[in-house]
Formats: sequence, structure tokens, C-alpha cells
Amino acid sequence: MKIGIITSGGDCGGLNAVVKGAACMAHARGAEVVVIPNGYAGLYNLVDKEDLVALTVDRLDRFEASFAGSEAGHSRVKISKINDPDKYERIKEGLNKFGIAGLVISGGDDSGSVMIDLSEHGIRCVHAPKTMDLDLQTYSVGGDSTINRIAMFVQDLKTTGRTHNRIIVTEVFGRYAGHTAFRGGIAAEADCILIPEIPVDWDEVYTRAMRRFTRRVRASDVQAGTYTIVVAEGLRNADGSEIIDETAGTDSFGHKKLAGAGKHVCQQLQKRMKTDPAIKEFMKESGQFVTGVYEIPEVRSVVPGHLVRSGRSSAYDVSFGWEAGGAAVLLLLEGKSGVTVSDVKGNQVRYMQSRQAIKARHVDFEEVALYEEMGICFGRKVERFVPEFKEITEAPDRIY
Ligand code: F6P
Repeated sequence: MKIGIITSGGDCGGLNAVVKGAACMAHARGAEVVVIPNGYAGLYNLVDKEDLVALTVDRLDRFEASFAGSEAGHSRVKISKINDPDKYERIKEGLNKFGIAGLVISGGDDSGSVMIDLSEHGIRCVHAPKTMDLDLQTYSVGGDSTINRIAMFVQDLKTTGRTHNRIIVTEVFGRYAGHTAFRGGIAAEADCILIPEIPVDWDEVYTRAMRRFTRRVRASDVQAGTYTIVVAEGLRNADGSEIIDETAGTDSFGHKKLAGAGKHVCQQLQKRMKTDPAIKEFMKESGQFVTGVYEIPEVRSVVPGHLVRSGRSSAYDVSFGWEAGGAAVLLLLEGKSGVTVSDVKGNQVRYMQSRQAIKARHVDFEEVALYEEMGICFGRKVERFVPEFKEITEAPDRIY
């Protein structure tokens, strides 16, 4: 059997491991994997191609599974939106031309929905979950790598923040799910984490930030301190309205490009500082106040953007990627289509119907309350964590 591999959507860590895992499993089972380059755009244009790269043993030797991004290339193209009545026939023609009997497609919710569409049009395909947003029902490659990178950037920014007594706001990708901001922020010991799931009460953010920041500077023998905020790009105000820069435009799936959350946090804090007499007092008392030049602490936003999904993949993602790629091939060889790999437990290759697997998963409020009670601000009044104690008899499933 010849299997085509497609990677699609926003790239991230672990993808190359999916590709390599799929190719290695295919070899082991007497099948072959070829790369369909450039995501769904490449699939649509497959019929026009002269040849495809086969992932032979030699080619795989020159293929580094731990690099983030994808050797197969990506595009953000929704097949159903292509203005061509014969698009599915054209895709089938391309697949037939190269003798491809099934596809392994690694992508997130949007790419997953296209994969369901293809499967419903009679193209056999299995989904290997990928998204740094971590908003699928299953684990997806990219999540862990991104969390590690966010944690590293946010932690590193503390040195410059402390040197300049600045409040540093780091805005991170994640669309409308706060998983990576949440976990990356916790790992970096951020003071405040703002996520789309929790509409922000700005007075609460301000009061708590100033209390902790001024205490830190006052307690320092050299009057130095910083305060760290991690904000997810899809943030909302307390009234539910989105905080986005409308000039950012839309992507080819028709989704708004999200931008502006970090700047908005800065504005909200600075606005309050300017009219807060306690801040003037604090600046004077700590020997920083200079009339007309330096009257309030600075609040700066940093947007690492694509850096959170670039570079090297985490060990966890490389390992899960191999597993997801290999499992996807086994599912295809088993005759499955329209399903998403969940994980491999013992000898069980576990999978879900893709329609179910791509349903958005959001941050659990109860887990937020646990960290909130331990002192991290989530932009709302502290909710008490109400523990329920439960003894379990089996090892828990792996999930972030
Ligand atoms: O969905 C993955 C993601 O990284 C989002 O978190 C982010 O909003 C988006 O992709 C950015 O997409 P692009 O690389 O197309 O700008």
C-alpha cells in the first residue's frame, strides 16, 4: 500500500516525528510513504505533479525528527472553499496517478475538519493530531514544545524586567484556548496569566499586580523588581467582547488573525497607574520618581509570535509524534478512515471519530482555581479550590 502524508495548518513541534514515525511503521509493514508537499494546496494540485518524494530508509537518514515545523510543508487551504465543482474528483485523480491508497493527515481542528470532508468524499484518511493550541480532545503534537518555549521566554524576560523595574507582558499564540499560556505561565512562575476562558476584570488585575510589584521592589535591597504577565492572544473583556486589532485581517480559513492582547494589557495597567496616588508615592519612596520623565513604572509587551512553535521539538512531542504517525499508519492498514489517533496504551492503538476529536477543549476552571489559591492571578476574584478526594485504581491517562 502506498500512503501519502500531509501536514497542515499552523506548524509546530513534533510534526516531523509524525512524518518519520508514519514512514518507519509503513516500512515495517511492507507499505510505502510519500510526501504530498504543501498541505491541502499540494493535495489539490497533486495531479499536476511529476513526481513525489518517497520516504525511503536513505531519505529518512537525512530527516531530523526533532526539528519543529514539517519537512512536508504546510498551507492553510480549506478544500470545500475551493471554487471548483470537480475538486474532489481532481484530488482522486491525483491520488490515482501516484497509486496512493490512503492519507495520513496531521493537523488541528481546521485541518481535521477538511480530513473528515475528504473521508466523506471517499478518500481514505487518518488524522494524527497536531496543534500547539492543545485544543483538541486528544493530546496533539506541538503542545508540549510550545509550553516549554513559552516558559523559557517568560522566565528569561524576568532579567530585563527586574533590571528596569518593568512589568513585562508576554502575548502568546493559542487562539481561543488558554492551555499553552496557562501551562507555560505556570512553568515560568508568572504572577498573572490571562486566558480567553476567563473574561478579565481589569481592576482586579491592576490591584493585585501593584500590590505584588511594589512589595517586591520595596523588599529589595537594591529596589529592583519585576512583575510577569502571560496573556493568550484570544483574550476577552469582562463583557465578553474580544480584544483584537481588527486591522490584522483574516486567514484563509476565514478566522480573524488575533493580535493586540498584550498591548491592551499595557494600556489597562498604565491608565490606572497614572491616576493612582499610591503609585506616585511608591515611585518617590523607592527613589525612582523624576517629574515629567519617570513618574510611573513602565509596562512593556513582548510578542514572541512564531518563536513559540519553532526551533526544536520537546522530547515528549518527538516521542508522541512517532507514536501518532506509526499508529495512524496501522489504522489505515486496518481499513479505518475518518478517525483520529488518541494514543497507544500497551498494545492498544486508541482512536476517536475525528468529528468528536476536533471538538474544542478549553482550560478547566477548577484547575485554574487550584493555582489561583496558590497566589497566581487569573484576572478574576480568587475562586476557592474545593477539593474532592478520590482514590483511583488504575494509572491515569496521559493528558496535559
Ligand atoms: O493554530 C495554531 C496557531 O499557532 C495559533 O495559535 C495562531 O493564532 C495561528 O496559528 C497563527 O497562524 P499563522 O502562522 O498562519 O499566522
